Amino acid sequence: MPSYHRAVSVPPWFTTRLLALQRAIAVALVIAQGGIAVTGSVVRVTGSGLGCPTWPQCVAGSLTPVAHPEVGPLHQWVEFGNRTLTGVVGVIAGLIVVAAWLGRPRRRRVLGLALVQLGGVALQAVIGGITVLTGLLWWTVSVHFLVSMGLVWMAVLLHRSLAEGDEPADTLLPRPLMALQVLQGVVLGFLLLAGTFVTAAGPHAGDSDTPRLALPVDNLAQVHADLLFLFLGMLTALGFAIRALSEDTVLRRRFRVLVAVVLSQGALGMVQYWTGVPEVLVSLHVLGAGAVVVATAALWVASRSRGPVPSQGVDDVHERLDLAEQTA
Ligand code: HEM
Repeated sequence: MPSYHRAVSVPPWFTTRLLALQRAIAVALVIAQGGIAVTGSVVRVTGSGLGCPTWPQCVAGSLTPVAHPEVGPLHQWVEFGNRTLTGVVGVIAGLIVVAAWLGRPRRRRVLGLALVQLGGVALQAVIGGITVLTGLLWWTVSVHFLVSMGLVWMAVLLHRSLAEGDEPADTLLPRPLMALQVLQGVVLGFLLLAGTFVTAAGPHAGDSDTPRLALPVDNLAQVHADLLFLFLGMLTALGFAIRALSEDTVLRRRFRVLVAVVLSQGALGMVQYWTGVPEVLVSLHVLGAGAVVVATAALWVASRSRGPVPSQGVDDVHERLDLAEQTA
């Protein structure tokens, strides 16, 4: 049989619906990747980190919680719930990989970003296991959280990739401003890292027996807040530059959203610090950290463009021409 008969052609409605579905799944992934960091914080503030004292089983001999003389049922179910959510995020990530594979044209960048999500969930399952097996060692908790934030960032990139093409990225702002955004991303990374240090030295590091980071928590909180001021300073400079140089309404709107999210998160941080880090505010602060990452990534992708989404028809023609050439 001539090989061009193997060219996969799908009706346009399939492509359109698949793209809409992929975008919806990508939004779900952003929420799920951020959400699991929040449920992880619930595990910490309720002291349930060792609610399932072993991994991958919950207690020796059972994957699910069972009555245990040393671990209360609430702690077991909180930790088990968080582990189950990993499965949910894994299913969502698996769906987006399948959708990217089925997409016509099959886009390497989209597929690659989808695989990053699936690989990231597998990596997080392993890091979560190491966290439990090391008795919630503070830096394993920190790494666990930071990888989540990285996956949130990458999920925003994945969502964006479904609304643009595959051409080399064209920047919509002058190079120095793109460099400023890169620097801002680095400062955000340190801001998040410092936050996890404050947690590690504070009362919510895992459960009551978890060894704390032996550094003064007030000094760490000060460094954490100072990094926010640095971030805000850079944001202010970027804001003036965008106002002077760009008429792009999406870019301007995303900048305003980022400012609002960062200021709210900073205010929440202050309140939780002055009120003795009440549990509910700690989890809200983790949610806020995810929102800051999403808003920063959203501004980054809005300042670059990779052209229009490639159309099915064009790809079909190329695919058939390639196959015809090969069979000639
Ligand atoms: C954009 C601004 C901010 C971001 C993105 C941010 C992010 C974070 C993150 C990621 C954590 C660690 C959460 C965890 O390990 O589960 C954290 C913890 C913390 N942050 Fe912030 N933060 C910000 C501003 C502030 C400010 C201005 C303060 C005021 C001092 C503050 C006070 C704290 C405290 C006290 C903790 C420890 C909470 C605990 O005991 O778990 N944060 N922050």
